[in-house]
Amino acid sequence: MDAAGTRAYYATVAPYYDTELAARDDLPCWLALVEAWKPRHTVDCGCGTGRVAVPLAMQCAEWGGEVVGLDLSPAMLRLARQHWRERRPDAPATALHLQMQDMRHMALGHAVDLALLVDDPLTHLARWDDLAETFRGVGEHLRPGGRLVVEASLLPPEAVGKPYPVVIRTQSSASLPDGVIRVEQERRVEAIRRRADVTYRYYRPVGERSESEAVTAARFIAHYLDVASLKALFRLAGCRLEERWGGFHFEALTDESSMVLCTGRKL
Ligand SMILES: C[S@@+](CC[C@H](N)C(=O)[O-])C[C@H]1O[C@@H](n2cnc3c(N)ncnc32)[C@H](O)[C@@H]1O
Repeated sequence: MDAAGTRAYYATVAPYYDTELAARDDLPCWLALVEAWKPRHTVDCGCGTGRVAVPLAMQCAEWGGEVVGLDLSPAMLRLARQHWRERRPDAPATALHLQMQDMRHMALGHAVDLALLVDDPLTHLARWDDLAETFRGVGEHLRPGGRLVVEASLLPPEAVGKPYPVVIRTQSSASLPDGVIRVEQERRVEAIRRRADVTYRYYRPVGERSESEAVTAARFIAHYLDVASLKALFRLAGCRLEERWGGFHFEALTDESSMVLCTGRKL
């Protein structure tokens, strides 16, 4: 997906994003990692609404650390700025810097001790060259001994090895200030091409017989990496891949894992 397509997709889903991810329960994992490493400078690449960057900045401020959150979507960054304004009275103003940047050409002007990619921003990069450029840029910013943590979605286990597209449908609900909406996700996974055509549809209940009307829909192409490709990308960043977990409670990675959390260190 090109930058314009990514911006258009997130302009549509931004109002629903935080409530949809509220049950994700990944925040303790990110906070535990920064608590263990106490980075002075952190970059959150593809920080979105600041869902993770804002609490991380609050925590890092305790030891004088600063976080840069960068994203290319104005709609997501607008929400991040709003969330930071709400929390900022409790932390130094410099604890979080939100910047509109494309992570493929990251330019921070200083080195970092920790680079994070949370909730798979890489899924939007279709070309190996874009992935390579992103990881080279991350590597150029990481100090020796600095850490890189990447969360990437894996091919859904039910699609692995299938020579035909597998359609996976899920439903959830999201609470917004003006009521609850129903969210339908349809993922048409082509395992051979390591990609999925993903559509989100949002419905608002109307009337008393729980009929619903469509509010909006958004679509993108998701690209799946595997651990071998991630290992090669970590190498491009000058990092050795150290750990790979299958979940936010540091579970072992198995054939049933739908995501991988990789950590590495800059040599
Ligand atoms: C799935 S969201 C994750 C947001 C956030 N990390 C979180 O966990 O809530 C992916 C984010 O990556 C951003 N993104 C995608 N491609 C990007 C790029 N090339 N440069 C910077 N941000 C990008 C999108 O705009 C979006 O906000």
